[in-house]
Amino acid sequence: MEQFKKDIEAGLSGKEKTLPSKYFYDKKGDALFVEIMHLEEYYLTRAELDIFKNQTQQIINAFALKKDTFFELIELGAGDGLKTKELLKELTNQNYKFDYVPVDISQNALDQLEQTITKETPKVSVKKKQGDYFEVLDAIKGNHCPKIILFLGSNIGNLSDEIASTFISKLSDSLNPNDKLFLGVDLIKSKEIILPAYNDSKGITKAFNLNLLARINNELGGNFEISNFKHQPEFTESEGICRSYLVSCEKQNVFIQALNKSFHFEKGEKILMEISRKYNSEILHKIIKNSNFQIQENFKDSQNYFANYILNRA
Ligand code: AVI
Repeated sequence: MEQFKKDIEAGLSGKEKTLPSKYFYDKKGDALFVEIMHLEEYYLTRAELDIFKNQTQQIINAFALKKDTFFELIELGAGDGLKTKELLKELTNQNYKFDYVPVDISQNALDQLEQTITKETPKVSVKKKQGDYFEVLDAIKGNHCPKIILFLGSNIGNLSDEIASTFISKLSDSLNPNDKLFLGVDLIKSKEIILPAYNDSKGITKAFNLNLLARINNELGGNFEISNFKHQPEFTESEGICRSYLVSCEKQNVFIQALNKSFHFEKGEKILMEISRKYNSEILHKIIKNSNFQIQENFKDSQNYFANYILNRA
């Protein structure tokens, strides 16, 4: 709670207002994100699922695991585990020995995931961990068995390039030689495809963004008038970053009790809510430049919308 308060205050006090998208995921936000993943316009989940379903064996082969050696399959930002379940099924069918360690900021998402895995693939041993990505690095360091890290769904795209690069370096430092990172990234493409994914016709993504204002109202005693903000994603193909904003529809003040502070918004003033960076291999090379990872191979979906890279810890 203290960190939430600090982050909200810092984000709204700067010259260009911003709110961290990691706080989207309360119970309502988790449910909205699950809805987003099933939207027609949100191609990312379908594209990555296509890779997991149609190239499962090639992916397992690329992990280069030994059937008689225990390993950990650690998933960062596990969410509802839709794609991972394809892998879990196949790994258990083939008698691999492993723990599945889902890591997520949302305890609620983790509890639901554990329930469905226990039901659908009861043989899998689930060891859930709650926390943000950086918090779990130390836990990863702790033991020396081989590790496969899954960082799927273009979750890395919600980090700035600087933070992504620092995180990837730290992650590689926490691993041992030949451990692998299986990284899912959305590829740069035209804005005709990307923008609707962040501005769906049912307004679910809009509700997902506005829900953070509601969360501030509920948890910090804010008085955001939600209908006074409109949702506006922007994308430039040359840069490859989609930015989601909430734009103040009028000149207004918002008071947040827990901070005992008022924040002023001009008409048209934007709050940057989320960045969703899109990748190509040149950008990925830059991000991993200072790490001990090397690109081993990649898998793409049938439309070339999405890629999963295997990065090997040198
Ligand atoms: C979780 N993350 C990769 C999603 C994305 O595409 O950036 C979050 C999201 N935001 C709006 N729609 C989905």
